[in-house]
Amino acid sequence: MPLHLLQIAKKLAHDAGKLALEYQENGFKTESKGGVDLVTEADKACEQLILKTIQENFPDHAILTEESGAIGDPKAEYKWIVDPIDGTVNFAHGLPFYCVSIAIIHKGLPIIGVVEAPALKEVFWAKKGHGAFKGNSPIQVSKNGDLKRALFSFGYPYEREDPVTPMTHKLVTSVLTESRGARRLGSAALEGAYIAAGRLDAFFHYKLKPWDIAAAKIILEEAGGMMTDVTGDLISPKNGRTLASNGILHSSLVEMIKKEGGDKVM
Ligand code: IPD
Ligand code: CA
Ligand code: CA
Repeated sequence: MPLHLLQIAKKLAHDAGKLALEYQENGFKTESKGGVDLVTEADKACEQLILKTIQENFPDHAILTEESGAIGDPKAEYKWIVDPIDGTVNFAHGLPFYCVSIAIIHKGLPIIGVVEAPALKEVFWAKKGHGAFKGNSPIQVSKNGDLKRALFSFGYPYEREDPVTPMTHKLVTSVLTESRGARRLGSAALEGAYIAAGRLDAFFHYKLKPWDIAAAKIILEEAGGMMTDVTGDLISPKNGRTLASNGILHSSLVEMIKKEGGDKVM
């Protein structure tokens, strides 16, 4: 791996985060992508900043971003997966739970993940085989194996009429009964990073996209956690069903979701 890839990914997440904060300070235009899904001027500008640097430095790398889709050779050795702002609805409402999410994949294997939350002044990152960090400090998932003491988070897809919405309601109800509580923070990448840092114990969400979770997955795995499909298998990019946890709780959560029929919907 080029030695400087991690440095560049971290700098890009930081610079894009700084730009997002400037938009937050000075105002921005917001457009609807349909339904409640939004895109702001800041999403587009942060994405352009990131794209420009990757393309200038690594013209042979492929890129997948939320706003521009797939760019470059799908068979490229390196692929960047970028969500310029994860948590756009929070961003648009002036809530601080949003982040820049950047992952790098090498020959199909995730090697670098960076999740920077500029308004919260925190950066989570990991390099394959080297552990996960918040700033300069190593992080680890919680050691909690007791559902009753677990703090969850979850999310709904933007499309309200989606068949997974009633199932998500059902799972939230059972989690609320079984655990310490459930939060909806509105940024899947940050929620994954929070499990890595031991702040949350588990998270579930149907219909996530690769750019929502690619960076968080590497960070979480390097911190000792797991991110899989709700059945415990690999996440399918076709349906983005996602269960993330500290690892200890994973199999009991797979069972709980199965009991509610959550493995049957997608
Ligand atoms: C969204 C956030 C949100 C999740 C949505 C995602 P965006 O990403 O991660 O928490 O519930 O499904 O699309 O649109 O803010 O980048
Ligand atoms: Ca996202
Ligand atoms: Ca986004």
